[in-house]
Amino acid sequence: MSGISTPRGTQDILPPETEAWQYLEGIIREIARKFCYEEIRTPIIEHSELFQRGVGKETDIVSKEMYTFEDKGGRSLTLRPEGTAPVARAFLQHNLQERGLPQKLFYIGPMFRYERPQAGRYRQHHQFGFEALGGSEPGLDVEVISIAITIFKSLGISTFKILLNSIGCSKCRPKFLLALKDHLRPSLPDLCPDCQRRLEINPMRALDCKNPTCQPFLDAAPSPSQMLCAECKEHFEEVQSLLRFYNFDFEISPRLVRGLDYYTRTVFEVVSPELGAQNSLCGGGRYDGLIEAIGGPPTPGVGFAGGIERAFLILKSAGISMPPLKKFFIVYQERLFEEALKIMKDLRQAGIPTEMSFERKSLSWQLKTADKKGFYGALILGEEEAKSGTLILKLLSTGEQKTLRVPDLLETLKHIA
Ligand code: HAM
Repeated sequence: MSGISTPRGTQDILPPETEAWQYLEGIIREIARKFCYEEIRTPIIEHSELFQRGVGKETDIVSKEMYTFEDKGGRSLTLRPEGTAPVARAFLQHNLQERGLPQKLFYIGPMFRYERPQAGRYRQHHQFGFEALGGSEPGLDVEVISIAITIFKSLGISTFKILLNSIGCSKCRPKFLLALKDHLRPSLPDLCPDCQRRLEINPMRALDCKNPTCQPFLDAAPSPSQMLCAECKEHFEEVQSLLRFYNFDFEISPRLVRGLDYYTRTVFEVVSPELGAQNSLCGGGRYDGLIEAIGGPPTPGVGFAGGIERAFLILKSAGISMPPLKKFFIVYQERLFEEALKIMKDLRQAGIPTEMSFERKSLSWQLKTADKKGFYGALILGEEEAKSGTLILKLLSTGEQKTLRVPDLLETLKHIA
């Protein structure tokens, strides 16, 4: 089909890149297993109301970026822009609290946001997310931060910074919002149109504004973490002291408020200078009011989600590549077709990735094919070798080769593959 390509802001993930994705996802699953977080898979589509109530009608995500449509039954559905509200919905719908609290869950999958695409920002992107529902202790906040750090370190990513803030709770936030409005109101005509609008409907979001004209007014603005109630203050201090216990360097970022309305108390981001404008590798925080906002009983929660494409951008700029799968191609003289089939069957059974061509073409054609397809090694089965019960292992990237006895083949390849 000529002329039809992927929709703007979406991408095909092709081999061998898919192999790197599987490897990265494998690391995430392994770390989830070690931290005892279980996988949850929720639908890609949800009722639009879930995000309107959970993430917040006035957020950019809900007001500008959702892929929302009416289905044939007249229901308003939305391609999920994020994973936390769906996990909270599933927790509530299936009474997951009965499995014991906190429920520790993780997910990996695509999210959809109608944003202006640029490096590191796509309309379909992939997140890995970890959520702990039903626990309010600061130790849980620090546990999810430490999962994020463990993942990035395991991938070899080291150039990042942890930004931390507390945005208080329903008790202390109103006082802060009043102070913020009082601070910004005299400068209203000088603020960007977005901030002028935000000041009325969602003033805290103004703190996050990137417009240079607003910066001097925002730099001097009060921070939510300066106006916490006694309980939120104690929680914030405990989070910091546990982060120090884990030896994590972090920076208090007084203007970090995040772009989703469900957050309470702790918010954090892991950012990397190598990502440019879209510098957030992962973000998260506590959302003690979310489950109530979507119709459940008061239930605290905390979690984060990271962007897989952004992790790959950093790995690429640091020159780190995932170890490729070592695959072997059997190259055989036509007469030895059945011998080749047998070897392929034995190797596959032993778990060694093996392929051969069924076209029975020349040795040089087969070798070229193996090279073009990116095979690690060729196993060459020629007349001479067949006579002596041997074959040649040729490493295609270096040209290095050695003769092996067929009975020793499995053992040798197991050490290499
Ligand atoms: P978020 O900060 O909107 O948080 O997204 C999480 C991560 O997804 C970001 O840090 C970024 O790495 C990646 N990301 C977001 N949008 C895009 C995009 N358009 N293109 C590429 N990557 C993107 C959430 O979604 C919350 N649900 C996180 C959370 C979980 N909070 C508590 N639990």
